[in-house]
Amino acid sequence: MLSNNADFTKMKTIAFATSNDHKMEELRHILPQYKILGLKDLGIQEEIHETGSTLEENALIKAEFLFNKTGQSSFSEDTGLEVDALNGAPGVHTARYAGVSRNPEANMDLLIDNLKENSDRSAQFRTVIAYKSANEVRIFEGIVRGQIAKTKSGQGGFGYDPVFIPDGYNNTFAELDQTIKNQISHRAKAVKYLLEYLILRSD
Ligand code: IMP
Repeated sequence: MLSNNADFTKMKTIAFATSNDHKMEELRHILPQYKILGLKDLGIQEEIHETGSTLEENALIKAEFLFNKTGQSSFSEDTGLEVDALNGAPGVHTARYAGVSRNPEANMDLLIDNLKENSDRSAQFRTVIAYKSANEVRIFEGIVRGQIAKTKSGQGGFGYDPVFIPDGYNNTFAELDQTIKNQISHRAKAVKYLLEYLILRSD
């Protein structure tokens, strides 16, 4: 017996332009009403070149790539960590902050080094979702504000989670229960707006 009212035989399918297993897992928790197919599920191995100069441009590049490949309503997301004292850096360069290897440990070490003892440690994660269907292109944004910790703590989550303490909490995203992260995160907020839009359109 199903534990909720979801009718899985009627679940709608949506394609998500990511090969990041952490993002897939988060999205499946946040958006249980949809069958979400990632790049791996769709057998797409090509690298999508994120050549845009903003999160919005990169999200659009990925959603349009996937829509053109599959013909299926598609969405993508691009996330940046924007640190106030660094004038919004790393921003669109978040993934490659410490170099092309996209190493999360090196990225966080560089961020901690660049902030040094700066007393202003305020920052935000900003997620931009681009949605592309046969008829429309839409952009949604989700932001969570917080503080950059002076050291890394916690094992959960991914990326910069060990150095980001969301406002209203005393622990990093990597220390918090992932259910909490999935309720308050930048990604959760952006997906909520996407979902509201999909419900309105009954897509
Ligand atoms: P992208 O959106 O996959 O290009 O990710 C950009 C960068 O932000 C990568 O370094 C990710 O690890 C990091 N990132 C994206 N989402 C999160 C998150 O929820 N927590 C921590 N880091 C994240």
